[in-house]
Amino acid sequence: MKLQNKVVLVTGAARGQGAAEARRFVAEGAKVVLADVLDEEGQRLAAQLEDQAIYQHLDVTSDPSWVAAIERTERVFGRCDVLVNNAGIYWPAAIAGTTVELAEAMFRVNQLGTLLGMKHAAASMKKTGGGAIVNISSTAGLRGFANAIAYSGTKWAVRGMTKVAAAELAPHGIRVNSVHPGCIAADMLKQNNEEVHRMGAERAPLERHGTPDEVATLVAFLASDESAFITGAEVAIDGGWAV
Ligand SMILES: NC(=O)c1ccc[n+]([C@@H]2O[C@H](COP(=O)([O-])OP(=O)(O)OC[C@H]3O[C@@H](n4cnc5c(N)ncnc54)[C@H](O)[C@@H]3O)[C@@H](O)[C@H]2O)c1
Repeated sequence: MKLQNKVVLVTGAARGQGAAEARRFVAEGAKVVLADVLDEEGQRLAAQLEDQAIYQHLDVTSDPSWVAAIERTERVFGRCDVLVNNAGIYWPAAIAGTTVELAEAMFRVNQLGTLLGMKHAAASMKKTGGGAIVNISSTAGLRGFANAIAYSGTKWAVRGMTKVAAAELAPHGIRVNSVHPGCIAADMLKQNNEEVHRMGAERAPLERHGTPDEVATLVAFLASDESAFITGAEVAIDGGWAV
């Protein structure tokens, strides 16, 4: 098992890709902290994963919430080896229709949340000699899509912050990589309009949506020691949509 005895914190783990990642980490032998604001769903999943997982309420936009989540991770499992910054929000909006409220909401969850996660998890990892951080960006962080200016801005920022963190944290034994999913059949996609849904399958050279399990396979690899020489990388998992 490639993640035996690793302690992993996954944000946005109550459903969608985060839940698939948490299940995969447990299957690979890890102890997992499921962090989300959807307490009921998160607690239900943690109960299914029995003693290998706990649920922690974490609003990624809040500094004190991060302090509490890392403290509990260390208290229950003794350390934090891996952080997956997966929590994210997305609403399509044209440039003309992008309000301050919409842009700030996406900035706070997608960009600030990822930054705060790296800050607090890295402080914990430094105490134990290293770790791995996987930041979930998007195809929208690799190329331009109409009607996604605020979301894309945050996902390009996640890609850029990943490279800064990879350079800065390498001396502490911490690797940082970004993952760029295309259209993945999870709740976020279902919430969006028919056109985004259709385009994701029709315009990707592989002509289908991806699955949360396929993303989980990639994230588990980047979290594991099998990727020990990979840091600062951006890996697309999008059926070729960004080519
Ligand atoms: N589904 C796709 O097609 C797709 C494509 C590219 C990138 N992504 C990215 O993948 C990641 C996972 O998305 P998903 O498809 O599983 O969507 P999802 O909506 O199913 O899951 C997102 C999770 O993040 C949580 N979350 C939202 N705000 C939070 C906050 N403030 N604090 C903590 N948790 C919070 C939600 O409660 C939810 O559980 C996101 O970062 C998203 O931007 C998704």
